[in-house]
Amino acid sequence: MCGIVGYIGNQKVSGILLNGLKRMEYRGYDSAGVSILTDGSIETIKKSGKVAQLEKLVDHTQFDSTIGIAHTRWATHGEPNDINAHPHHDSSNKISIVHNGIIENYAILKKNLIEKGYTFRSDTDSEVLAVLIGALYDRVKNMEEAVRYALNEVEGTYGLCVLSVYEPDKIIAARRGSPMVLGIGEGEYIVASDAAAIIQHTRQVIYLSDNEMAILTRDGYETKTIKNEKTTNTIHEIEFDLEQIEKAGFPHFMLKEIFEQPDTFRDSFRGRLLADKGNVKLGGLTQAEEQLRKAKRILITACGTSWHSALVGEYIIENLAQIPVEVEYASEFRYRNTPLYPDDIVIAISQSGETADTLAAVYETKQKGATAIGIVNVVGSSIARSTDAGIYIHAGPEIGVASTKAFTSQICVLALIGLYLGRMKNLSQSDGKRIGAAMLEIPNQIEQILNKSDEIKAMAKKFTKSRNFLYLGRGYNFPVALEGALKMKEISYIHAEGYPAAEMKHGPIALIDDNMPVVFIATKDEIYEKVISNIQEVRARRGKVIAIASEGDNDITNYADHVIYIPNTVPMLTPVLAVIPLQLMAYYMAVELGCNVDQPRNLAKSVTVE
Ligand code: AGP
Ligand code: GLU
Repeated sequence: MCGIVGYIGNQKVSGILLNGLKRMEYRGYDSAGVSILTDGSIETIKKSGKVAQLEKLVDHTQFDSTIGIAHTRWATHGEPNDINAHPHHDSSNKISIVHNGIIENYAILKKNLIEKGYTFRSDTDSEVLAVLIGALYDRVKNMEEAVRYALNEVEGTYGLCVLSVYEPDKIIAARRGSPMVLGIGEGEYIVASDAAAIIQHTRQVIYLSDNEMAILTRDGYETKTIKNEKTTNTIHEIEFDLEQIEKAGFPHFMLKEIFEQPDTFRDSFRGRLLADKGNVKLGGLTQAEEQLRKAKRILITACGTSWHSALVGEYIIENLAQIPVEVEYASEFRYRNTPLYPDDIVIAISQSGETADTLAAVYETKQKGATAIGIVNVVGSSIARSTDAGIYIHAGPEIGVASTKAFTSQICVLALIGLYLGRMKNLSQSDGKRIGAAMLEIPNQIEQILNKSDEIKAMAKKFTKSRNFLYLGRGYNFPVALEGALKMKEISYIHAEGYPAAEMKHGPIALIDDNMPVVFIATKDEIYEKVISNIQEVRARRGKVIAIASEGDNDITNYADHVIYIPNTVPMLTPVLAVIPLQLMAYYMAVELGCNVDQPRNLAKSVTVE
């Protein structure tokens, strides 16, 4: 959650900070603020709302300073108003911090500090950290020590940047549980929650580890643990380009990302799928090959959209490899005493690689001695670094808060894993070849669906008055129903439920009347006839039916009010095609309703808090 950026170097800082915030605004957009060190004091400007609101208040001509920190917030403690916006100061206004995460013991720390005479202005947990650092500085008169002592007292998570008038040529950054990336430029350093804020300055980065601090001065940087042990870090190269984090002429990132899917799906299997051999090559799994071979059970854990792809993965892996698979929300997994055995495999799926619950599930897996495998998009992210083995989905930066291309790429990688395990077990080469050939077709088939976007837009327009939607599907298409409903809820704020089509009669059928649009994913597979019966049940109660159907299925027009056709593929890949019209439908509904598609209310792109 939230984006942090800090800069020290040779260029004027105000523009750099605001640009950095704009690049990371998808991470949180409740409020934004900057602290700039100028003429021996800290100038802080902060405002509730988007970065654009803040920008109006920052007069660039006013600042020549080349050092500062900034924040875009996703509120956890205290409503998103001006006072609670970051940066926060210590009581004497000599120290300024930006914080991402939650200080869990803030209440007791705050009480102790108040008793000692320190004062507070906001309702946030973060301010406690600022005041605590100030209080410790009063004692030790050294910023690095004050920050270190404070970090040893706080419980919870932080991505942190600290600026002070006491040591004006220094930024101290630290992390525990929230990402921090340090960009190493020529005579400048830029530290941020996300490489997107860094790439304009340098491609050379280091990823801070948990409980690690970085001390940045104009002459260099040093990294240490919060126990004061020196650390060394490998310098990595940022892999994406600036264009990839821009809209490229599309009105929204979400639409751009929907339209990228022919390419992103291809990028996910490129160099891995050996279609003519009916097999795959997954270098990222080499370290776990033995464990995979003898695995008796696989557990997949994730949140949100990634959890939906996990459900598709469950069906694929069980079908191709005949290994039992369970799927569990990471937020449940981490606090339940889930039985795990050393020969279990836990696959953690995450676009961002930073989702706190999923990361905690990985730690729990390792704690219990099982093997953790990551399916992650963001290179160098915490989940990618903490798993035993893993496969990047290579979908490129996903900026739209509503996940789209990550979902289809995750399924692509799960299909590759299914093939890999299947071929290790009993899946025949001819079945492998058939699936491989179907995967090669998918990019063109996605393209064909995207060509129908005007048709889907026109259909969406007809439903802008509906306040509820039901999404139904069976088998591989059940997770697609969940994902379609999630997209609709997230960006258009319309209530939508996803359900297994046959379960409808056990409850949700009570919701159906002539005001209830029901989206059926009714592609031609072995349970098609059953789904048609479910459609009939809805029609008998005057519900409006929108069907996502297989090309060539002319009969379905007899049962549905609207039909969107998708090309035919093997059942296990149907979700990749069936979700595209649902992504587009949610997008066009939201645009029609005037919603902020890329930054839907209350949401943030990566959920780095519990
Ligand atoms: C999907 O549109 C979401 N905004 C959200 O549910 C997301 O999928 C979830 O937070 C998990 O994120 P991750 O894949 O980065 O771990
Ligand atoms: N817990 C802090 C707050 O509510 C930080 C939130 C964030 O990560 O944006 O201000």
